[in-house]
Amino acid sequence: MKKLTLACPCLFGLESVLAFEVRKLGGENVTVTDGRVTFEGDLSMVAKANIWLRTAERVGIVIGSFKAETFTELFDQTAELPWEEFIGIEDQFPVKGSSINSKLFSMSDCQRIIKRAIVRRFEKVYHKEQFSETGALYQVQYSIHKDIVTLMLDTTGAGLHKRGYRANSNEAPIKETIAAGIVDFARVRGDSTVYDPMCGSGTLVIEAALKALNIAPGIRRRFAAQNWACFQNYIFNDVRKEANEQVRRDAPFMAYAADIDPHAVQLTMENAAKAGVASRIRVRRADLADFHIEPEQKGIVLTNPPYGERMLAVSEAETLYRTMGEVFVPAEHASYYIISPHEEFEELFGRKADRRRKLYNGMIKCQLFMYFNKDERSFKK
Ligand SMILES: C[S@@+](CC[C@H](N)C(=O)[O-])C[C@H]1O[C@@H](n2cnc3c(N)ncnc32)[C@H](O)[C@@H]1O
Repeated sequence: MKKLTLACPCLFGLESVLAFEVRKLGGENVTVTDGRVTFEGDLSMVAKANIWLRTAERVGIVIGSFKAETFTELFDQTAELPWEEFIGIEDQFPVKGSSINSKLFSMSDCQRIIKRAIVRRFEKVYHKEQFSETGALYQVQYSIHKDIVTLMLDTTGAGLHKRGYRANSNEAPIKETIAAGIVDFARVRGDSTVYDPMCGSGTLVIEAALKALNIAPGIRRRFAAQNWACFQNYIFNDVRKEANEQVRRDAPFMAYAADIDPHAVQLTMENAAKAGVASRIRVRRADLADFHIEPEQKGIVLTNPPYGERMLAVSEAETLYRTMGEVFVPAEHASYYIISPHEEFEELFGRKADRRRKLYNGMIKCQLFMYFNKDERSFKK
């Protein structure tokens, strides 16, 4: 099978996690840039990447990359690319994208020029002047960064964070891809016990369960490329079948979630059931103030407290941070991972984190504050 260049955008701060995932999947020649991981693979890698990657936002096939400072350069080089290798005579090929720090910056003009260039290419190769665009959808995506244009076809459709289990969410859910990144930083394994005492719609415990049981996050959903002529049904079906065989139902993983809001408790139960992990997640209504882990107990606490922007007033959020500092006691076997945008989180919590990591929860710049257990602390020193 022919080698393709694939590119996956990700949230800032998750590039290293995503690159690790890609390598584990068998992606070759992996390169990492801000917010993107690029690699090589065949058509089956496209299916694997869509079905398996937990921290990628989508998977694109790179059709070409070149320098362009004028619309003529953009048009000519776009028209030279072999679009017909993927897009058929009746298929739809809308164009969208973005430009940063480049001479070509007008989105509507770039869109129009790229579209016209692809049409010009098709006029030559298909010997036609009109294209019905009634067939499968091939979303063309362009990105221009410092005058370097990259042109891709999106194979994913609705973003990869849409796993299919969270039709309902509470007011301030964390994105599934960032939750999966936190699960990775916390080294959740098949034998881990995970806690989230402010679970909202349950994203962190559900992502932890999916990882621990080796359930592919995209196993239950469809992807845009499944409608493409080059992807005979078996390619996605084979990867899905293999993924089903790789689920580790015997892993002893358990998660304990709680929230003060009964609606959130209900949501977490419903979402866990949709994700197929309800038997691994116990949910109850409880106040953070009553949280405790027995000193001899092993556990990983992952939590995304209210920020005081969308949900509670800042002072109420700060009170919660102080309470967290009291109930998340330093312990032999327990570690704590808390994501917050608050600049003074550590002061309010009462202890300096062992490690911090900048992450973006949507547009909100946050930090993941990591408090290791005793073994990890001595190992990481
Ligand atoms: C930002 S949301 C968590 C969102 C969650 N990570 C998700 O993906 O849906 C914060 C949650 O903390 C809960 N909460 C606020 N105060 C609490 C308290 N004192 N004890 C327990 N939960 C609390 C809220 O009800 C809310 O569901």
